[in-house]
Amino acid sequence: SRTLKPAASVTFQNGFKNFSTSSQNNFKVVVAGAAGGIGQPLGLLLKQNKLVTNLALYDIAPVTPGVAADLSHMDTPARVSGHKGPEQLADAIKCADVVVIPAGVPRKPGMTRDDLFNTNASIVRDLAACIAAKAPKALIAIITNPVNSMVPIASEVLKKAGVYDPNRVFGVTTLDVVRAAAFIGEINGVDPGCVSIPVIGGHSGVTIIPVLSQCEPAVKLSDQSKIEALTKRIQEAGTEVVKAKAGGGSATLSMAYAGARLVCSLLRGLNGESNVIECAYVKSDLTEATYFANPLLLGKNGLEKNLGFGNLNGYEQGLLKAAIPELLKNIKTGEDFAKK
Ligand code: NAI
Repeated sequence: SRTLKPAASVTFQNGFKNFSTSSQNNFKVVVAGAAGGIGQPLGLLLKQNKLVTNLALYDIAPVTPGVAADLSHMDTPARVSGHKGPEQLADAIKCADVVVIPAGVPRKPGMTRDDLFNTNASIVRDLAACIAAKAPKALIAIITNPVNSMVPIASEVLKKAGVYDPNRVFGVTTLDVVRAAAFIGEINGVDPGCVSIPVIGGHSGVTIIPVLSQCEPAVKLSDQSKIEALTKRIQEAGTEVVKAKAGGGSATLSMAYAGARLVCSLLRGLNGESNVIECAYVKSDLTEATYFANPLLLGKNGLEKNLGFGNLNGYEQGLLKAAIPELLKNIKTGEDFAKK
């Protein structure tokens, strides 16, 4: 693989942050599920990221080489390769620094994320097995739903292969954070980009816990009923999109944006940047649930330090109490599947 250098006078934007050219800037990112509703715009955003040198697009869909050809015509440095079908998976995965997985079926109206389990579980299992064999040190970011169960599946597969590192497997909950910030920005009348809001727990219904008491700046809502309505909206925001798309799938564009942000942060951590913090769903001993999402410090080996979730107010403690049994159930479903 070759490394392309932009002309000194050209500044490439990645949409999130500018980087100094003195950093490593030499990473291979794989998108598995690259031809889908999330995968395509995710590829579009990652092709603009200066830290990405190689962008490998993997999918089983026939259009995959076309998506790669299309993106390769963008005048940004990342080299794009397309890989279609299981026989080309190993080639896509080898030497990956980060593998981001949006492969699998999305929800239709009336479906819960758990309804996707049967189809998506084997997809994630097989991708994890290939990562274990071909890029055991890669950071893995799982977008595929139900995230609460898919992360345990991938972890069990990596364990079986003897290459599991809990600091390298992330369930992507960034969209919950992005949504919370968007809604709070609107309520407060400020740029949502300035809103810092931890969302903890997991990624489905009651397991999504926005910690509104820790929001900076403080959420401008006076009474508790409005706080509860906002909490509910954040928990059900995915369903809001599923309903509005009326059978056309679930969130794709905002998810691609959120996924690109998490991948960008993982790369910044790998690149040695300090103070890179994101919420994600990881192996955890903070609660009874053995996987849990909350703010994490990212670094050269993935998860550098679990930052915990600080103090919750009474209402938020109630939310946590409701989330735990659901998380335990979701985790068990994933682990049982992987052990079969
Ligand atoms: P989509 O159906 O548009 O795309 C999925 C892609 O995966 C398709 O191109 C399909 O060919 C591909 N695929 C299927 N089996 C595969 C395999 N074995 N290997 C590689 N690729 C394979 O679906 P969309 O809208 O992109 O959603 C993808 C997943 O992301 C769904 O499970 C959805 O529920 C989830 N999602 C997660 C969110 C989160 O916050 N974590 C938010 C929104 C969606």
